[in-house]
Amino acid sequence: MNTDVFISLAYIVSAVLFAFGLKLLGSPATARKGNLLSAIGMLLAVVVTLTSRHIIDYKWIVLGLLAGSALGVYAANRAKMIQMPEMVALLHGFGGLASVFVDWVAFDSHLHLGLIATVSIYLSILIGGITFTGSCVAWGKLSEKLPGSPISFPGQKLLTILIFLAVVVCGVIFIGFPGHHYTVFLILLGLSLLLGVLLVIPIGGADMPVVISVLNSYSGLVACTTGFVLDNTLLIVAGALVGANGVILSIIMCKAMNRSLINVLFGGLGSSTKKSVTETGEAKPISAEDAFLVLESAKSVVIVPGYGLAVAQAQHAVRELGELLEENGCDVKYAIHPVAGRMPGHMNVLLAEANVPYDQLLEMDAVNPTMNMVDVCIVIGANDVVNPAAREDEASPIYGMPVINVDEAKTVFVLKRSMASGFAGIENPLFYKENTRMIFGDAKSTVQSLVAEFKSAAE
Ligand code: TAP
Repeated sequence: MNTDVFISLAYIVSAVLFAFGLKLLGSPATARKGNLLSAIGMLLAVVVTLTSRHIIDYKWIVLGLLAGSALGVYAANRAKMIQMPEMVALLHGFGGLASVFVDWVAFDSHLHLGLIATVSIYLSILIGGITFTGSCVAWGKLSEKLPGSPISFPGQKLLTILIFLAVVVCGVIFIGFPGHHYTVFLILLGLSLLLGVLLVIPIGGADMPVVISVLNSYSGLVACTTGFVLDNTLLIVAGALVGANGVILSIIMCKAMNRSLINVLFGGLGSSTKKSVTETGEAKPISAEDAFLVLESAKSVVIVPGYGLAVAQAQHAVRELGELLEENGCDVKYAIHPVAGRMPGHMNVLLAEANVPYDQLLEMDAVNPTMNMVDVCIVIGANDVVNPAAREDEASPIYGMPVINVDEAKTVFVLKRSMASGFAGIENPLFYKENTRMIFGDAKSTVQSLVAEFKSAAE
């Protein structure tokens, strides 16, 4: 068997592993296996590609591998769990930049490119440039190196439209008139980089997770178009899979916020500095000791985790509390909102890390109809995703967003440090409801105090 046939067969195996891996990622119970299968597929693809007879010098490949791996290991080890979304943004950005470089080399080394390769290079430079700078801005907003609120200036929309038009003109020259248009290539690259910045700065920090997912999709598309330039089937397949997944995930997130993708990307809620529109009242604080007395007699408890759980790293303490409640004869469930936290599946990952059984995790739609039969709902570091204003207050910026109806439980305990608002920056009427009690403090310390109460009662 010659090398090219061997590589093609190995690529098919890799593509199948990617597809099965993705399928398994669909459930928390099989996600680890799915991740492993996809990683094996990628390893196979990389190793097999390195056997290609088209490679004439391994020196730079080895250097790149060493430098990239060292940087990757360093960055991943330094990043805390709550910094994952911004790290993911950077990774997508570098994926886009890598594609730009590959396409640049392809453009530079072929004086006469065919139509498909020329169109692919044009699209790769455009999407890759936008992905790189757009991801850098998203990283800046999430890491608070840039202001989280939308950034705008007079004439911004007009400038963006003019750049779009210029990009189209570049495309017409680049594709329509055969020749080696190096200057047009460089102008296109510059405009794409600028466009990435202009498209992301007007979007508020609260919408960054969706933006990151869209940029994830772009990084897949650019890998796909680069696959056409290099005539590499696996890159086309893998890029298309990433592109499609990114779009599906973005749509799922938008649905969970009752928004359209267009609304997120080109205006809408956007800002994390929104002012309260709901009435306030008097919140009723309660100590962990008093909360324990209520929990001790509860027959059913639903725990609703949010971003604050990740900040406090309270997941292990929460699992311990759940076990103690169960030992006390209580039915314990965890209700997960699709956009709780700062990235898709954030809460599932945290709870899985603490070995919370998967069958205790319920999705919002499954838990809401039974909420009025729940004795106690413990809201841990969640705010926007349990805000009843989404149902009750037509003037609220989040009106219509599906939320977990914790206020319908008999008693609600809200664990947070202060009366501060959540990511959307809006007041939460839940805190003032008759059946709500606030337990102020860091979520981990509060849960540990509850655990200590249960343990000392058992002694
Ligand atoms: P948030 O609404 O952001 O609320 C988190 C709460 O945690 C804050 O109110 C904060 O209050 C509390 N907190 C922070 N640190 C804490 C600690 N150490 N101990 C106890 N409490 C702590 O979180 P959420 O309910 O999970 O909602 C997620 C938000 O992100 C939504 O607005 C959602 O639309 C947005 N979003 C998410 C995604 C994805 S994919 N997850 C996508 C798009 C948008 P204190 O400061 O008073 O403690």
